Amino acid sequence: MRYLAPSGARGNQPRNLDECHSISDLRALARRRLPCPIFHYVDGAAEDEITARCNTSAFDDIRIVPRCLQDVSFVKTSTHVFGEDIEWPVFCGPTGASRFCHPEGELAVAGACASTRTLYCLSTMSTFALEDVGAAIAGPKMFQLYIFRDRSATLDLIERCKRSEYKALCLTVDTPVVGKRERDLRTGWGVPIKLSMRSVVNFARHPVWLAGQAGKGRISMPAVAALSGTRSLIAQTRYVGKQLDPAVTWKDVREIIELWRGPFAIKGIMSVDDAHRALDAGASAIILSNHGGRQLDGAATPIDVLPGIARAVGHALEVVLDGGIRRGTHVLKALALGAKACSIGRPYLYGLSAGGQAGVTKALDILKGELVRAMQLSGCTDVRTIDPELARRI
Ligand SMILES: Cc1cc2nc3c(=O)[nH]c(=O)nc-3n(C[C@H](O)[C@H](O)[C@H](O)COP(=O)(O)O)c2cc1C
Repeated sequence: MRYLAPSGARGNQPRNLDECHSISDLRALARRRLPCPIFHYVDGAAEDEITARCNTSAFDDIRIVPRCLQDVSFVKTSTHVFGEDIEWPVFCGPTGASRFCHPEGELAVAGACASTRTLYCLSTMSTFALEDVGAAIAGPKMFQLYIFRDRSATLDLIERCKRSEYKALCLTVDTPVVGKRERDLRTGWGVPIKLSMRSVVNFARHPVWLAGQAGKGRISMPAVAALSGTRSLIAQTRYVGKQLDPAVTWKDVREIIELWRGPFAIKGIMSVDDAHRALDAGASAIILSNHGGRQLDGAATPIDVLPGIARAVGHALEVVLDGGIRRGTHVLKALALGAKACSIGRPYLYGLSAGGQAGVTKALDILKGELVRAMQLSGCTDVRTIDPELARRI
């Protein structure tokens, strides 16, 4: 796991945000600060975690062919995606239960996205109400949806999003059932939560984390609480497990898109055939994603399927790459191969766990700084004009 090793020498791990210079440093700090079931919930993936590892290592097979003697004293990073202008082409994708990383959870992520002028896509599994996060988001708002067995629950969420002025919806389609995440099975942080004795002891060994959470009220997933009618987090996770519907088809997707009538992304598309179907169904964007390797282990990586999908539908759909981004150069490679923007999950969760809103801002600043530097070093002046010649597969 090359990108995940802390950049400092062994035994010289970062102790605070100032000592973090890369996403892997933030990961190392998050690991120190979180009880181990939470760290593994964030860091882990399905089965042998091959897909999760390859999501990042696949970028190594692509090399940048730099150009020289361009005036790169100023480079333009702003772009337009999901009907919104954003300051740079990376945004925070949906991740559930962020309050476990930090007491400010999704509110902290929303604040960091607003301050770095990018987008936040809030998860259905948010630990703050979509209305409260919506009110806290100064910038563009996007909400991630699942089509539940109880279709009225999904429709209810859509209505709430409209009332709270979310501008875009993202439908996750790679979750007909939950992936087999073995780290969670070992710690007991699965669906439903059933902590092992060792995990309970490990929580007790993290008094700072416990103190941070104490006095902030019980942790809950308000959207799921409203649908399931239960205040218990364990009962809510059980409800979600039962509501994931393996019978969802393109017909359901088409109906939801017609109902929404706004920017609509389908997250989890990985083939040219499905990209065409998404276009036919009326989506405005697709997010190439394998859920960060948390669902089907052995699935292809988004960067591998990107060029073919971008060639097939890039003229008609916004194509976003999600998964494995740990460096600014990864973003540059994805843009060169046809992505309009990139979405991240773990990088900002490491930041959140390491230092709340300041930690998320740090993660975003690290990636943006690296992207700008990579653009300057490779002679790119505008993210919108990066062309495929810049990236060569070896
Ligand atoms: C802890 C965690 C929770 C996640 N929860 C959700 C979720 O609720 N909905 C969703 O569509 N994707 C979810 N994802 C997947 C992310 O949106 C994204 O696809 C993935 O993290 C991208 O890979 P990366 O972590 O390598 O950036 C989650 C990912 C993580 C790590």
